Amino acid sequence: MEIIITENYDTMSEVAAGIISKTIIGKPDCVLGLATGTTPIGTYNKLIEYYKNKLVSFSKVHTVNLDEYVGLPEEHPQSYHYFMHDMLFDHIDIKKENIHIPCGLGDDLEKNCHDYDAILAEHPTDLQLLGIGGNGHIGFNEPNTPFKSFTHIVELTERTRHDNARLFGFVGSVPKQAITMGIVGICHAQKILVLASGENKADAVHDMVKGDVTPACPASILQLHNDAVLVVDKAAASKL
Ligand code: F6R
Repeated sequence: MEIIITENYDTMSEVAAGIISKTIIGKPDCVLGLATGTTPIGTYNKLIEYYKNKLVSFSKVHTVNLDEYVGLPEEHPQSYHYFMHDMLFDHIDIKKENIHIPCGLGDDLEKNCHDYDAILAEHPTDLQLLGIGGNGHIGFNEPNTPFKSFTHIVELTERTRHDNARLFGFVGSVPKQAITMGIVGICHAQKILVLASGENKADAVHDMVKGDVTPACPASILQLHNDAVLVVDKAAASKL
């Protein structure tokens, strides 16, 4: 795994946006795998800036998102649909029909999972952007998810629900389930770009890079990917 350590969150975001822009410029109709959460917000802000300065266009780009909560309507401010439109899609020239986000609604969630795997098969990812959970999760693949997992429904761990409670106001409002791209879907990407910022990610970053490759730390699978880049600020890199 290539490791780039940056001074702070802003430089991490700039480096990440540079890598993503390079992918788009090299292949204007590329497929980007995208993440939500706090970590990529600075990267998305930079990409919007580059778009506004006409350095990059998303007009032919396709996107596949990692995950979505089960049971939240798209217009719910904490849904990942809402997040992606608010943070990125509404500010760039991407075509609505080129955006793909797993669906956590309806009576047949298993069908939603199969449908999403079919979308992934039709859209081989050129670059997958990832954050990492404090417990080493990627997407919502929580510790001990089998490495051979496809898109599936997960029961969120208490740690993840607590970590995400800040966005919902209190932990009781955080959905208990989510739909997530599996580890197979993530690892099929041609290139993987993992971002991590802040001291609270230092243990997970250590386990991802230097620990055993084990489902106990889902992100450790990235040690086996042949083009994975970690862009990490000094605080998150402090235990490497
Ligand atoms: C988000 C996702 C998660 C987050 C992780 C880190 O789509 O799949 O794996 O990347 O929970 O979240 P933040 O960036 O909020 O610390």
